[in-house]
Amino acid sequence: MREFLIAGNWKMNGSSAASDTLVSGIVDGIPEGGGFRLLVCPPFPYLASVAIQVSSSAISLGAQNVSEHKAGAFTGETAASMLKELGCGYVIVGHSERRAIFGETSEQVAAKYIAAQAAGIVPILCVGETLEEREASATEDIIDGQLDAVLDAAGVDSFASAVIAYEPVWAIGTGMTATPEQAQDVHRHIRVRLAEQNAELADTVQILYGGSMKGENAPGLLSMPDIDGGLIGGASLKADDFLAIAAAAAAAH
Ligand code: 13P
Repeated sequence: MREFLIAGNWKMNGSSAASDTLVSGIVDGIPEGGGFRLLVCPPFPYLASVAIQVSSSAISLGAQNVSEHKAGAFTGETAASMLKELGCGYVIVGHSERRAIFGETSEQVAAKYIAAQAAGIVPILCVGETLEEREASATEDIIDGQLDAVLDAAGVDSFASAVIAYEPVWAIGTGMTATPEQAQDVHRHIRVRLAEQNAELADTVQILYGGSMKGENAPGLLSMPDIDGGLIGGASLKADDFLAIAAAAAAAH
């Protein structure tokens, strides 16, 4: 059985003090039981201090973005090797906010995915459709395009050390959530797409749901056969809210 991954994407929120409080609240409240891993992805300036806070816990550390370049004259960018040095085991690539606001292309996302893996970091590859795309029945085409860019560049076997997050853009930060069935349909589609190239591997890949996941809707979403956790924005900013989702994962396992 696949382990659940409950990942907090703090986005550009918080302060040094808020980050300390949040992480100590999570460390102190990890639910009993197994079958799940917790991950926090703070903003870059807090990675070093959070790394120390989580070092003696089972909580993993991740970053929210990475450069596709190894090193050099790229002002403002952060190399995967630097994240690795800080203790990051994961990095989010291709979040819809990066695609939509910062113009990241699927090819660039694939290059970031490859750079992360080259440094020994597990990329969390985000895919998802906008409301217009869903209403035009283009959801699967959009997901396929985003997935295929990485499959073409890195190969299916690379998914042995990657995580996928399905984040319907219309459900991010809006309070609207995909129903468990809507999410399951897309997660299944993603797994089948991978299985066309490597069935055994497809069965092991964690596919997270992201889009207004909270303590209340987590049990329904996590009960679906192809939903292996969550990538959580708003509800990852308060320890109790985040831990409620962790508790749902512990109960669902
Ligand atoms: P919300 O949980 O705030 O909808 O954000 C989801 C998300 O974008 C996580 O990466």
